[in-house]
Amino acid sequence: MCGIVGYIGTKLATPILLDGMSKLEYRGYDSAGIAVYNEGHITVEKCVGRLDALREKVKGHMPEGTMGIGHTRWATHGRPSDRNSHPHTDDSGDFVVVHNGIIENYMKLKEELIAKGHKFVSETDTEVVAHLMADLYNGDFEATVKEVLKIIEGSYSLVFMSAKDPDKLICTKKDNPLVIGLGEGENFIASDIPAIIDHTRRTYIMSDGEIATVTKDSVWVQDIKGTPISKKVFEVNWNAEAAQKGGFEHFMLKEIYEQPKAMRDTMTGRIHGEEPIKFDELNWTPEEFAGISKIFIVACGTAYHAGLVGKYYLEKFARIPVEVDIASEFRYRDPLVDENSLLIVVSQSGETSDTLAALREAKRLGARTLAVTNVVGSSMAREADQVVYTYAGPEIAVASTKAYTTQLLVMFMLGVYVGTLRGTLDPKLAKELTLAAQDIPEQIHQTLENVDQIKVFATQYGSCEDAFFLGRSLDYAVALEGALKLKEISYIHAEAYAAGELKHGTLALIVEGVPVIVLATQSDVYAKTISNLKEVKARDAVVIAIAQEGDEEIGKEADHVIYIPKTNKFLAPLLAVLPLQLLSYYAALTRGCDVDKPRNLAKSVTVE
Ligand code: M6R
Repeated sequence: MCGIVGYIGTKLATPILLDGMSKLEYRGYDSAGIAVYNEGHITVEKCVGRLDALREKVKGHMPEGTMGIGHTRWATHGRPSDRNSHPHTDDSGDFVVVHNGIIENYMKLKEELIAKGHKFVSETDTEVVAHLMADLYNGDFEATVKEVLKIIEGSYSLVFMSAKDPDKLICTKKDNPLVIGLGEGENFIASDIPAIIDHTRRTYIMSDGEIATVTKDSVWVQDIKGTPISKKVFEVNWNAEAAQKGGFEHFMLKEIYEQPKAMRDTMTGRIHGEEPIKFDELNWTPEEFAGISKIFIVACGTAYHAGLVGKYYLEKFARIPVEVDIASEFRYRDPLVDENSLLIVVSQSGETSDTLAALREAKRLGARTLAVTNVVGSSMAREADQVVYTYAGPEIAVASTKAYTTQLLVMFMLGVYVGTLRGTLDPKLAKELTLAAQDIPEQIHQTLENVDQIKVFATQYGSCEDAFFLGRSLDYAVALEGALKLKEISYIHAEAYAAGELKHGTLALIVEGVPVIVLATQSDVYAKTISNLKEVKARDAVVIAIAQEGDEEIGKEADHVIYIPKTNKFLAPLLAVLPLQLLSYYAALTRGCDVDKPRNLAKSVTVE
């Protein structure tokens, strides 16, 4: 996600902003910018690329002034470019804003503002906020911010600066982090603690709905109605490295716990109440889709596993045959792809060499192409005919966690969307699924709280040589991901099997004490999964079952049960994978592995 830094004090703001932004570089970004107030005027400098490019740009004419805001951008709306970089201003340049998050209703607001004569220069959602400030300004900076907050929808942390009221910065947040650093004769604002830790360890952690007016000598916090809020000082006692990880021991763990937010961000603008799921970026019509006779999903690793789940959704809801391919196989197998095919590539990075090559091959063969990716402006996003973004935010750990669950969510939403479009999905079920999906962020949160039990299993079984994962239907796809995660970071040999396939060979490997993780969240194949569970129990394996809350039967059969909150069976993969992520993480920890950078692996595989 983007990074925010703000400064107000007596020192030159530019070096402090640039330094703070450099502390956020580890999160990944594609462009950077600053805005500094000096003598009645705000200077904005921004450019695409690394911070060094921005430093080069301001070399020799560094904006002077003791108040400013800075931003490192991870693109969401509009590709990485100079113009899309933050800060954004209104036409006059008097109102400047930096933003993390997504303004959900920006299109409508933009149209209204354009009709009133505002000139937009970027493709971002953020720019509407600066124009709204100018549009609504009534001589009172704080009151105008409050008016803007009543209008915008979505998620945000925002910092406002105005040449019309130059002794203060105003900041607020909803569903995105924001902290205020308290200094002596100076104060700081940041999206993350690392950006300010060199200057102060005394902070206010902002909560949703709080609005802070920050001057060099004071911080005044209130809610939108003007009710004062008294904040407790939070003393940061992490070192710089721990601060980058938000206090978590590893990026992987931090990213696992970021999943509720990643889910909300990925749903933003697409799911709302009982309304049909929409993808503004696709806007497919039933006629357009009528020509598609087959869908290919192509990806690697974890993204391939998300594709397997996607096949299930698209076939079940949209009744179109779907083939899922490992990209390195697809590109060399002379695939039967033509202009009636839709090829979906799934990739966190959007740069994986084999997946990119598969996309190019499918285009050459005349297929329509769609990229599901997390990185705006990545090669796949640029080269596919259409793109749907997962809004997981930057994923730094090599092991994919939040990227995977957001991919599952996008595949789920696509399935419901296309099924509705084609009239193959019962509208009642579509509504049920849409509503159930909106509970998932909170259910993820609940599932992740149940970590103590998993830590115990990781200690008990962390020294094993082999582990097996079993499941049927959607549970099988999740089992594959669970096994990959365990192998990847703990180096335990792990295999996943479709539970019914076990007795066709692999059952020979099941001996006393071998841990077998059985996923049993799918009601339609539940009884059969239990039979398979009994088969491994009969060979004295240790069975850890993953089941939905309320399933008492499984407790009689398995050695241990990890319960996930009750949900529609189609959404169960989004919850069932969480204990597997945590189990892998804690098993790796027990074995002393380098969790974030497992041996021999890279985050983005850009070679064949
Ligand atoms: O960036 P991509 O999603 O295209 O990457 C694909 C795989 O390399 C990736 O999912 C890999 O399997 C992960 N390390 C698994 O955790």
